[in-house]
Amino acid sequence: MSRRGTRLCHRDAIPPASAKGFDLDDQSIFVVNQAGEFYAYRNRCPHLGVRLEWLPDRFLEQQSELIICATHGALFLIESGECISGPCHGQALQAVDIALYNDHIYLVTSH
Ligand code: FES
Repeated sequence: MSRRGTRLCHRDAIPPASAKGFDLDDQSIFVVNQAGEFYAYRNRCPHLGVRLEWLPDRFLEQQSELIICATHGALFLIESGECISGPCHGQALQAVDIALYNDHIYLVTSH
């Protein structure tokens, strides 16, 4: 069973083909908008466990079709978080549950 948890932002704060990072009390996450669908992952590269971005909210490569780790350039599928290129090939970002409610994006808290 789950419930709505922390409100992250209004959906319009993350336009299509962009991403936004959130530093919460106990974890850092980011949310990606791909063609109106939202995906969320922990901000932690499976290669070395570091944050993915060097600049605020820069989680996507130039075409905005893949998630990129700024440290060594690993590329991840937006829909699954799977690494398809780079030193952590075959590993994956850790997905985070989010939900849309009244046009806001919430981190889902399980209990
Ligand atoms: S730390 Fe992300 S690719 Fe090396």
